[in-house]
Amino acid sequence: MEYTITATCHFGVEAVLKREITDLGLKIKSTTDGRVEFYGQARDIFRANLFLRTAERVFVNLIEFEALTFEDLYQGIFAFPWADLLEEDANFIINGRSYKSKLFSISDCQRVTERAIIDKLNLSYNKSYYEKTGKIYSFEISMLNDQATLYLNTSGPGLHKRGYRKKQGAAPIKETLASAMIQLSVWNPDRDLLDPFTGSGTIPIEAAMIAKNIPSGILRRFDCEHFSFMNEVDFKAIRDEAFANINQNRPINIKGSDYDRNMIMTARENAASLKLDDIFFFTKEVRKIEDLGEYGVIITNPPYGIRLSDETLDRTYENFNSLIETIPTWSIYMITDYVIKDVIHREINKNRKLYNGKIKTYFYTMLGPRPPREDHV
Ligand SMILES: C[S@@+](CC[C@H](N)C(=O)[O-])C[C@H]1O[C@@H](n2cnc3c(N)ncnc32)[C@H](O)[C@@H]1O
Repeated sequence: MEYTITATCHFGVEAVLKREITDLGLKIKSTTDGRVEFYGQARDIFRANLFLRTAERVFVNLIEFEALTFEDLYQGIFAFPWADLLEEDANFIINGRSYKSKLFSISDCQRVTERAIIDKLNLSYNKSYYEKTGKIYSFEISMLNDQATLYLNTSGPGLHKRGYRKKQGAAPIKETLASAMIQLSVWNPDRDLLDPFTGSGTIPIEAAMIAKNIPSGILRRFDCEHFSFMNEVDFKAIRDEAFANINQNRPINIKGSDYDRNMIMTARENAASLKLDDIFFFTKEVRKIEDLGEYGVIITNPPYGIRLSDETLDRTYENFNSLIETIPTWSIYMITDYVIKDVIHREINKNRKLYNGKIKTYFYTMLGPRPPREDHV
């Protein structure tokens, strides 16, 4: 059976997610802010969870209909054959959102949706009350331009929770966003990569996972693994194949540095969760980094935001600029909300708006020259 599947992502990285979905051999249906819809079989729902590095969650679009009143909403949800999907004690929760719709009260939409599901299940299982003691299912009822869509969350907790980040610093970047930054850059596994503000090591670890073909979800489980309609899927076979395709010995030259020794220890521990002991993490103030070679790529998430004084921030970026001036052949990518143009003395080729959670940030691109061997490509 073919499903319509929705993967959500950070605003601004839809094009990267779309490419990842296409690379899995799946057909795109549509793209909107923070969402990419595509078609796939039950096994593709699992593959999307296991492999998509920039997806935040993967949902199945269960039902779609027009709902101008709560009665419309109730009837539309009630009409679905719920006993085919849920056990008689399924423990489900309903999240909601509403935009440009007559049914704007999200809590009422959630309540009506839940009532309709419970009424239908009680009818189907011939029961008079409902006990949520079984397996967990989470849904999202979405009202958009009076169109109701009920989504089933197949991921469970957000896919940025890869399972390798045992510890983290005060301002870690989401793994999904770190991967998007890498995929938006000119870096490829044959080039050097440095994150000089590495914190818990997220950017180097995500890059090494790409280089060695380690699936983003290899250390975790997904809610869809207990869904009855996914029984036909051989999860173990797909995981085994993904393991077999990991190229752990692929040489890499990926580095991460930070002036906080404790963060470097944390980054090393996190990398060890994936046996990525060949990422070189070292303690260093950014302006003191040297011997970097040529034609590498910096991808980084320097400090920014309200927790630091302007003076401290200015100094940090000046120090970063001192490093940048020593490596004219390197390409530099950074995500920040700090206004860098007066401090970083390199031409900015692009500044893409990206949302880091609710903070509007810019992803700056400063391209270095192409490495000589790539001139012939
Ligand atoms: C926003 S955090 C990076 C978070 C990281 N991307 C992660 O996922 O954990 C910025 C990091 O820069 C480090 N840092 C701040 N100023 C520095 C400097 N002058 N030199 C080197 N590291 C610095 C901090 O210790 C902090 O870990």
